[in-house]
Amino acid sequence: MIPIPDKRPRRLRVNETIRSMVRETQLRPEDLINPLFVVNGKDVVEPINSMPGVNRLSVDKVVEEAGNIVQLGIPAVLLFGIPDYKDARGSAAADDNEAVQRACRAIKDSYPELVVITDICLCEYTDHGHCGLVDEGKILNDETLDLLAEVALSHARSGADLVAPSDMMDGRVAVIRSALDGDRFTDTAIMSYAAKFASAFYGPFRDAAGSTPQFGCRRSYQMDPANGQEALREVALDIDEAADIVIIKPALSYLDVTRMVRDNFNIPIATYNVSGEYAMFKAAAAQGWLEEEKVVLEALLSMKRAGADMIITYHARDAARWLQS
Ligand code: PBG
Repeated sequence: MIPIPDKRPRRLRVNETIRSMVRETQLRPEDLINPLFVVNGKDVVEPINSMPGVNRLSVDKVVEEAGNIVQLGIPAVLLFGIPDYKDARGSAAADDNEAVQRACRAIKDSYPELVVITDICLCEYTDHGHCGLVDEGKILNDETLDLLAEVALSHARSGADLVAPSDMMDGRVAVIRSALDGDRFTDTAIMSYAAKFASAFYGPFRDAAGSTPQFGCRRSYQMDPANGQEALREVALDIDEAADIVIIKPALSYLDVTRMVRDNFNIPIATYNVSGEYAMFKAAAAQGWLEEEKVVLEALLSMKRAGADMIITYHARDAARWLQS
């Protein structure tokens, strides 16, 4: 005899009203953070080939875009700069007149309520493309820390609400915190890329930011994709050094890491839906192989379900629009 079930999960799926009552996870525009690439100059809107819909923008255009972002109910932007000059020490990164610093001031002038987060790293600013100082092919840790602190101070002076170190040097959160506090930027928060994996999914970003390493790779400082337990150690260290928010990056192939961090720590978590993940969805959608709106919202929802409080994503504006309609 075929058994007739008395337990039927489908009872709670019969219509949208009931489904909405038992829905465990919500995705909202307020969960999203919109990355922006800032260049010098005026009136510049430069498409990035491998990231359809994303452009390099000059400061005036960034402010325009910030207006759209505010309108869509997205609370924050994450700024990356493409400087006018590069050198071995990444000097342009701490230049108060470079693109990111000017963008911070301009956004804060027009939209003070929009949270401005800045990427703290040297790779867009060094001629060798590495995230730290280099000596005989080695990436130096301790020598890089002071430079990162200077970059953070320059961004804080320009009005950044949060600074986000993505370099993966050991001890940088503590050094940045003490530099900020020493200059009375006690309210400038640190959103640290605590678990940043050495991922091939960063490919399109490196085109966008011109930050491909000129020799070697980033595996001596970014994490081995095989390691989840080590991610917990990295997060513990950053919390100990006074990180306010931790980032897990990339998002999709590392949802288990987000879940582990959620289960082990009581700190806000951001996950970074990176350039290569964006490019995959865009490419499949352009071919008509996937329905863009549905797959993007499903993927973003999975990041929230895994335990992320916020999501850095190039889909932010589209997603916010879809969520509102
Ligand atoms: C800079 C940085 C990178 C990304 C964010 N900050 C590139 C890298 O580490 O090579 C990647 C973001 C993305 O792929 O969307 N260190």
